[in-house]
Amino acid sequence: MPILRSAFIALSRNVTLRKFSERSSLGHRMSSRFVAGMTLDEVIHAAEELHKSDIASTLDSLGENVTTPEEARRSADIYHRLLDAIQTRPDMNANVSIKLTQMGMDLDPGLAQEIVAGLVQHGVGANTFVRVDMEGSEYTQATIDMVRGLHAIPGNRGHVGIVIQAYLYRSEEDIRTLTNDGIRIRLCKGAYKEAANLAFPEKKDVDANFVKLAQQLLTSGIYHGIATHDEHMIAATKKFVRDRNIDPKSFEFQMLYGIRRDLQKSLVREGFNMRIYVPFGTEWYPYFMRRLAERPANALFIARNLLKQ
Ligand code: FDA
Repeated sequence: MPILRSAFIALSRNVTLRKFSERSSLGHRMSSRFVAGMTLDEVIHAAEELHKSDIASTLDSLGENVTTPEEARRSADIYHRLLDAIQTRPDMNANVSIKLTQMGMDLDPGLAQEIVAGLVQHGVGANTFVRVDMEGSEYTQATIDMVRGLHAIPGNRGHVGIVIQAYLYRSEEDIRTLTNDGIRIRLCKGAYKEAANLAFPEKKDVDANFVKLAQQLLTSGIYHGIATHDEHMIAATKKFVRDRNIDPKSFEFQMLYGIRRDLQKSLVREGFNMRIYVPFGTEWYPYFMRRLAERPANALFIARNLLKQ
């Protein structure tokens, strides 16, 4: 299985296959399992549908590693339109998730800083929240630095947050720093390929660290997100919360669009907060491939469904 994971992660970076897939109608049909649509109207519709089931959302306009400043600004424009749409639907409890490499981080960190600062300011005005996703470890420190800087600006407190990956050795220390600042964190296992000197290579160690870090978050007094589809991680979280008498509404579980919908609904029925990460847009290929890397059986599942249509 680790070989298949690496193969799908390598494919996620294949430019030719990406161009071909994103333009083909077969590609669109495949991606619809994990991607809510190609347009802003479609993603808002998906968020409204989730809201009907008492599920909140975080909206993600797909794209990463842009190659020109214009592309970065176009990506930001889509987010500004999303924030406008969210502002007119305050009941929907939606926010946005962004990636720094989509905002020009590889081209010019100053440009990314300016763009993200603008989005956070808009998030404050729209009374919502901007989550900065975490990408590969080459971006970890820069992402933390930017989010801490933006969070410290008067008025931004509580409107910008970050993601921490349980597979990285450094995460416990990072959580300490970020919670000291009062920053909201989404904890996930981590979806990129990392070297063994930076990240736990074994799943069992990632899982053990996830449980430990989740407990660190749940006792911090800040509203965090526990992002996983792993029933063991969820059971450990539920047990910890019960044993410590922690208010189940003082944090949220988070899952990805289209994955374990049964579990999403049952946690809501049990009284937990649930937020779904809802991606949309034409640049779905790297995101889609990372989902196959997490569970190569998805490739078979999708192929079977396509054959049935
Ligand atoms: P794990 O991979 O161990 O899977 C446990 C079980 O969950 C599987 O047995 C299967 O049942 C189910 N499952 C998991 N993935 C599935 C899939 N693709 N298809 C079908 N079933 C699946 N990563 C990152 O590096 N940076 C980020 O910013 C984010 N952001 C983020 C937001 C949210 C809301 C979520 C839920 C996840 C992320 N991730 C992420 C991805 C994360 O790091 C991780 O790769 C996936 O969540 C898979 O890990 P699990 O915790 O689900 O467990």
